[in-house]
Amino acid sequence: MGDMTEHHPYSPVGDSADRRDYLPAAGLHALLPGYDLLTRLLGMRKNYDNLVAQAELVDGLRVLEIGCGTGNVTILAKRRQPGAELVGIDPDPKALARAQRKALGLTGIHFDRGYAQSLPFADGEFDRVLSSMMLHHLDDETKAAAAAEVFRVLRPGGRLHILDVGGHMTAADGFAARRMLGNAHAAGNLGDAIPRLLVDAGFDCREVATQRHRFIGRLTFYCATRPGA
Ligand SMILES: C[S@@+](CC[C@H](N)C(=O)[O-])C[C@H]1O[C@@H](n2cnc3c(N)ncnc32)[C@H](O)[C@@H]1O
Repeated sequence: MGDMTEHHPYSPVGDSADRRDYLPAAGLHALLPGYDLLTRLLGMRKNYDNLVAQAELVDGLRVLEIGCGTGNVTILAKRRQPGAELVGIDPDPKALARAQRKALGLTGIHFDRGYAQSLPFADGEFDRVLSSMMLHHLDDETKAAAAAEVFRVLRPGGRLHILDVGGHMTAADGFAARRMLGNAHAAGNLGDAIPRLLVDAGFDCREVATQRHRFIGRLTFYCATRPGA
């Protein structure tokens, strides 16, 4: 959820000792300590709640969050459904360390370093995959690779649930939307770009809900099912 106007995800961010090949949670590594506060100020908790509710978790399901950052959604999902098995992956070790600290005392949840476009899991290993505010951190090519990887690690009938900036955003959605509409990263999330990406990867996809957001422009929820259950 960083300032997408400043960095390309595959451009080095920070100084030469701090080069990364991903766009971190708050756009800049130095801002990570403020990320959870920022999400609270943006009112993201109710959106996380909705995403987890849409996933209809039950005991015994194996659930992966790609781009879990500081673990907000993975931990919330675990608290909502303690009998589900939760895994969060993210390329950012510092975000993962925060997630691990926040999950202390919980069982059946763990965090690993990894990239959505190269998932370190076997085919069909998961019943659900969650993606919260992560897709806009990827360029189009990486998004396509990530969609293919999620398809691979989901079992037939398994579902991907997405919450992200974008959808059918127009200038009428306000100042933040007008800013997003001119933004290269957000562009890959706009209109029907996400459903098309997922259908191309083999999913059946539907938009679940969309809402204007004062500071983000527009947030949209999607559900994509791997056919063949
Ligand atoms: C805005 S944060 C969202 C974190 C969390 N999902 C949430 O909703 O609070 C985006 C996250 O995506 C991660 N990310 C960036 N590139 C990624 C990639 N290629 N694969 C997986 N995660 C990535 C970043 O490190 C960051 O933690």
